[in-house]
Amino acid sequence: MKLFIDSADINEIREAAEMGVLDGVTTNPSLVAKTGKTFETVVKEILEVVDGPVSLEVVSTDFEGMMREADDLVKYGENVVIKIPLIRDGIKATKALSDKGVKVNVTLCFSPMQALIAAKAGAAYISPFVGRLDDISHDGMELIQQIVDIYGNYMFDTEVLVASVRNPIHMLEAALMGADVATVPFKVIGQLIKHPLTDSGLQQFLADWEKVPK
Ligand code: E4P
Repeated sequence: MKLFIDSADINEIREAAEMGVLDGVTTNPSLVAKTGKTFETVVKEILEVVDGPVSLEVVSTDFEGMMREADDLVKYGENVVIKIPLIRDGIKATKALSDKGVKVNVTLCFSPMQALIAAKAGAAYISPFVGRLDDISHDGMELIQQIVDIYGNYMFDTEVLVASVRNPIHMLEAALMGADVATVPFKVIGQLIKHPLTDSGLQQFLADWEKVPK
């Protein structure tokens, strides 16, 4: 299972990358805005640190605009993945870009049929937002199971990228369902590692070590 960080903050990305278990990065316009830096600065900082796939989102909502933005974004590096919203022109752009060999991450997916259409358009990744579905009293993880099943039925190559992850349980369920990737905020990456029994066990070991004659 691949682990991406869902962040545009270079300090978070660097710290996660230094652990050696980071496979890629996803960004979105809200995450970039939070940095207070220009888009270009943010992109260059990230690409200096990460070799794996880095999703950069277009902000155009029409086909021509998306294609123009994608043409510019791919120039930043070979590992750039174009993030396209799941709307009609987005599907059209996904098909056109995929046909040219450009990797597309189709974002803002909230239904299994949206995911099916994105896969048919040749998306490299589909990003279903589980946390935002939970927020409106839907079962976000049920969507992941449906997409995993549908893609399995028809052997689609599109990778299921679980997005809007809010806690380690989302990650656990995604792993049990066989999702290909989870993109996880920095705080949740920390929660994946932490266990109180590990901390108290370590404290005890270190205290006992002091008693060993030196
Ligand atoms: C996915 O690619 C998005 O960047 C992200 O996971 C959205 O998460 P949020 O619902 O916590 O904003």
